[in-house]
Amino acid sequence: MSIQTLGFIGFGNLAKTLHHGFKDTLFKHNIRLLINSRSTPEDTSDLPDYVSKNTVLADSDVIVIAVKPQQLSSIMPELTAINWTNKCLVSLLAGVSLTTFKQTLPGLTHAFRVMPNTAAQFKQSMTTYSCLETTHSDYEMFITSLFSSLGSIVKIDESSMDFSTALCGSGPAFLFQLFQDMIELAEAEGFSTQQARLMINQIVTGVADSLNNRSESIPTLIKEICSPKGTTEAGLDSYQTNKLSDIWKTVFQTAKNRSEELSKNF
Ligand SMILES: NC(=O)c1ccc[n+]([C@@H]2O[C@H](COP(=O)([O-])OP(=O)(O)OC[C@H]3O[C@@H](n4cnc5c(N)ncnc54)[C@H](OP(=O)(O)O)[C@@H]3O)[C@@H](O)[C@H]2O)c1
Repeated sequence: MSIQTLGFIGFGNLAKTLHHGFKDTLFKHNIRLLINSRSTPEDTSDLPDYVSKNTVLADSDVIVIAVKPQQLSSIMPELTAINWTNKCLVSLLAGVSLTTFKQTLPGLTHAFRVMPNTAAQFKQSMTTYSCLETTHSDYEMFITSLFSSLGSIVKIDESSMDFSTALCGSGPAFLFQLFQDMIELAEAEGFSTQQARLMINQIVTGVADSLNNRSESIPTLIKEICSPKGTTEAGLDSYQTNKLSDIWKTVFQTAKNRSEELSKNF
């Protein structure tokens, strides 16, 4: 299956980030890019073709839908007007199932639901995807290679998409909130905001490097930091007494429930 043209419908924050990451791969494989968005920037000198929606739909082999979920209905008339049999749809929309697209788009056979996260801007996205069973493996190779250029990519069952949205999509925000709490605590202890931020940045970098470079289990890494009746043990006792593990799990579960609720709108 030859993929010559990649089209975007909607070119906002996420699409721009993806485009930035994909550029080299597209260039290497000589793949043309077509973009349609509601508004066209005044200066498109460093951007490839901005064209009409109908041109994107007619001329692209792979079409990435990158509008907001609530904007989907505004592009549906054009999406339903073409035959999708020999095209591939890539939906980035949170909460819209592939079944919804399959039931609406004539002939849809090859389709992906892809969920990158905001770390895509640093090529550190944890991207999850699912696809229709009928999707041709050439498309799957293309999509996985494209999104691999933005970090890691894992295939999941679509039924796990709500949880993975909570874990990989929202998860970074929950961690940022934890870091903010740590910064506020450090400030209350007399550190400047700058010092506190530097400390958090370095702690997080060290933890990420440990996770990436050490093969031991996380409980082993925790144990290594603890000494009998020491400070870490005291903190972890408080973690347990206050049932923080349960609370953290509830945070992710609540995000998953919200994702399920939002999916019901489509
Ligand atoms: N941001 C993230 O981190 C993230 C992560 C995972 C998934 N997603 C999903 O990615 C999608 C896009 O999110 P985003 O943050 O990039 O949103 P965004 O910045 O608002 O981008 C939406 C784009 O769609 C365009 N658009 C709206 N209506 C249109 C229409 N009728 N025809 C053509 N283009 C139209 C908008 O054009 P104008 O600018 O002219 O309005 C804009 O370029 C969402 O569905 C979201 O669920 C986002």
